[in-house]
Amino acid sequence: MNLIFATNNSHKLKEIKEILNNRVQILSLQDINCFDEIPETQTTIEGNARQKSMYIYKKYKQNCFADDTGLEIDALNGEPGVYSARYAGNECSFEDNVRKVLSKMNGTENRTAQFKTVISLIFNGNEFQFEGKIKGRIINEKKGTNGFGYDPIFVPDDYDKTFAELSSDEKNKISHRALATKKLAEFLINL
Ligand code: IMP
Repeated sequence: MNLIFATNNSHKLKEIKEILNNRVQILSLQDINCFDEIPETQTTIEGNARQKSMYIYKKYKQNCFADDTGLEIDALNGEPGVYSARYAGNECSFEDNVRKVLSKMNGTENRTAQFKTVISLIFNGNEFQFEGKIKGRIINEKKGTNGFGYDPIFVPDDYDKTFAELSSDEKNKISHRALATKKLAEFLINL
């Protein structure tokens, strides 16, 4: 079975290929020569994942999936959420986003947060969604240099290290994206 993954992120591709263990052939956007700017204009993580998978399905008429992720901080009413990539502005860096979160959280006692990934799979014209969540807390300053995005300020529950202090192997065992990806893999393997 061939399945298009609406991404060019090599890290995400490697992760899903490892989990699926060659049982499904995954094609990236580059593999199908798709260089479109796929719109992500919805106001929810679920909506954005669906928008991206439907865009590819409508254009290529092939089974495909897309993912969308956000960091939801309770004291900020779920922000940055669906706006996680561009929280500090359109051209912002990971560093800018982290600085904005730390500044908004300055003096805030409630530090609880969660990462959420939603995968939208379009299979034979029907949509299926798979969600992965990991709860944790936002610390007061950056720690660690691994990973990306908000990793240096997020400590998962039952750990005393940030995602950026864990090895990628350790993070990939417990992360939001790994949990959603495993659910997708189980679905595909049981077809
Ligand atoms: P995307 O939907 O996977 O592109 O994720 C959107 C944004 O969420 C990214 O630009 C990052 O800022 C943040 N993000 C997603 N996954 C992670 C993660 O595993 N660790 C830290 N930040 C993440």
